[in-house]
Amino acid sequence: MNLNIDKDIRKAETLPAEYFKSKEMYELAVEKIFAKTWHFIGDTSVLPLNEMAHPMSLLDGCLGEPIVLTRDKAGDIHCMSNVCTHRGNIVVNNPGPLKKLRCGYHGRRWDLSGSFEHMPEFKAAENFPRPCDGLAKVPFKIWKDQFMFAAVDPDFDFDEIIEDMDTRVGFLPLEEFRFDANRSKDYLVNSNYTLYCDNYLEGFHIPFVHPDLNDALDYKNYRTEVGKYWNLQVGVAESGVDSFNLPEDHPDYGQEIAAYYYWIFPNMMFNFYPWGLSINVVRPLAHNLTKVSFLTYVYDETKLDSGAGALLDKVEREDEFVVEGVQKGIQSRFYKTGRFSPTREEGVHHHHQLISDFLQK
Ligand code: FES
Ligand SMILES: [Fe+2]
Repeated sequence: MNLNIDKDIRKAETLPAEYFKSKEMYELAVEKIFAKTWHFIGDTSVLPLNEMAHPMSLLDGCLGEPIVLTRDKAGDIHCMSNVCTHRGNIVVNNPGPLKKLRCGYHGRRWDLSGSFEHMPEFKAAENFPRPCDGLAKVPFKIWKDQFMFAAVDPDFDFDEIIEDMDTRVGFLPLEEFRFDANRSKDYLVNSNYTLYCDNYLEGFHIPFVHPDLNDALDYKNYRTEVGKYWNLQVGVAESGVDSFNLPEDHPDYGQEIAAYYYWIFPNMMFNFYPWGLSINVVRPLAHNLTKVSFLTYVYDETKLDSGAGALLDKVEREDEFVVEGVQKGIQSRFYKTGRFSPTREEGVHHHHQLISDFLQK
């Protein structure tokens, strides 16, 4: 299968249809893409007090890596493997208050940062404990004391991404954004995850697929900026539509911006609106099945149902309809590959290049 993507968008062809249909490619992507990149794991409100633990499965259904978050006595948050270094039992099963981490199988014990403390019946064991008898540290970042990210073995430093996002959206009081469970929802999409992300990565389809959203955005000024492991779509507001109050030193000062759509390779979307933030986490479950979690963080409730960030459920259903249409279409014996619009599909081209690079590393 030819996975090479020409760097020149004017000449490039898309990833071949075979890529999207292949179980082997999906399995390769789990290890070569998802185990090598960063994932959103929620916000710090899961550990409201000191001396607490919160176990979870990193990118459940895809990586499914058992990890545990703890907040120690001093209030510091740690992220580590939730697998006992003795014979591999899961250490913490339930979230809640905890002073020590203790494996329920044979009693191995660690402090809340994962440092080894005690193991019964091991006095005669030589060269014990070794540093690796502590719980393995999981690469971990917290953005604005609020949003948490973890990775298995990342190929890049998440600080690079945070720095870029801060220049654009750092003016927003992100630490004050609050999760709203009632406005959050999971969607199951019958498609390869790549197709779901590709659809997100272009505004080209907005006039065709999303009539309401199209009324809120100034399509001719809609633009995409491509970074190394992220890209940004800037949704300029139609006149009279809610927009951000940008500070004078902001790169877009003087423009009416209705939305910033940040995509972070391979599967995170941070959609900033004047009311707050909608985070979309795209979780591939199989080569033809994807779960998308919409996580809503509200800042200004008075703006919730207007502008580019209104009717998100309707927009999602419109997107699913076309994405599932593509999933059916690419099964055709006639469809092999496509081309990119040089003016409207820079984000999709960027995505295909990253997939190509990571799979061929
Ligand atoms: S597996 Fe954890 S103490 Fe034995
Ligand atoms: Fe869309």
